[in-house]
Amino acid sequence: MLYYAQSWEDTSLLRSIVDANEVDHYHMVASGGDHALSLLNHGIPHIHLVDTEQTQLQHVQKKLEALHATDRDSLFGLHSRKGLLHEGRLEGFLQKFSRVFPLLLSPGARRAMVQANSPEQRAEVYDKLWNTRRLQFLSNRFFSRENVDTNARHPGLIQDKSKKPTQVNYVDEFKAKMIAHSLIDNPYVDYIVHGYHKNSSLDYLKGNWVPEPNAITLHHTDMKSYVEQLPSARHMIHASDIMEATDGTFNNDFFEAVDQACTTGSIFLYWEHRYTVQVPDSFKNQWKLVPISRDDRVPFYNNFYLWQKQSKV
Ligand SMILES: C[S@@+](CC[C@H](N)C(=O)[O-])C[C@H]1O[C@@H](n2cnc3c(N)ncnc32)[C@H](O)[C@@H]1O
Repeated sequence: MLYYAQSWEDTSLLRSIVDANEVDHYHMVASGGDHALSLLNHGIPHIHLVDTEQTQLQHVQKKLEALHATDRDSLFGLHSRKGLLHEGRLEGFLQKFSRVFPLLLSPGARRAMVQANSPEQRAEVYDKLWNTRRLQFLSNRFFSRENVDTNARHPGLIQDKSKKPTQVNYVDEFKAKMIAHSLIDNPYVDYIVHGYHKNSSLDYLKGNWVPEPNAITLHHTDMKSYVEQLPSARHMIHASDIMEATDGTFNNDFFEAVDQACTTGSIFLYWEHRYTVQVPDSFKNQWKLVPISRDDRVPFYNNFYLWQKQSKV
């Protein structure tokens, strides 16, 4: 099974991070791979992609091949609901919702939101044409934690029932992101609203860019074992939200492995989705939390963290 056809991480946020933090080696959790393709398109020379699911890595390989094909837009399903961008369990779940969406809104609500060209105007359109009881009722049920866990997420991310989840209100997150960014500039919300990128596109698919040969190396393993065998160097280690699935002891060992592999100037980044990730003091002593001003356009996550390794004083 393919869980994620897309990587559902804000590529503008990731691009701003690599622009501000020069490192020598890049390592990321693969999921749908779009985040890595976006960074390559942005000028990063090479990226290691790591995933426990072979299906995810094969999916990324298919995207690499499709980028060289003459019919790449239809292979990706850029303007349709079929293709490489749509084959995942999460995308199937979101497409189901996008089909009932029009029934929940006032007529013309989606078009009016696309035409609104400021947060103030979008807030007005939301209140007038989107804030229906039908939308509230159905989206709260459809995007309830239980329903999302059961029908949209990788089972490995929801197994540890011992951890106390923090509240995620997907509907409030969705509303906030829709008002903050135009659907033309937000492929993540545009996809949720239409079931495909109707008004937007993924940055690396604009134009005819193709990656250099061997710009991506795929690794079928878990991220901690992978980091433990890394040579000490100035790395970027991206852990997506995989620490959702793991307990405190594992996470402490993971932070330790990251610290061991990294020299001064290295960066470590991850998202919190449902659970708070406890950061060991030993890690905090060596790494600084870098403030992030850029808003994350993806309405799934609670928090995003970027750490940078400091030189020993
Ligand atoms: C991190 S999740 C992102 C999921 C999405 N944000 C969500 O919350 O449903 C997606 C990817 O991480 C992979 N993954 C999960 N745990 C992993 C681990 N310990 N090491 C490497 N990849 C992992 C999964 O196979 C999947 O492709």
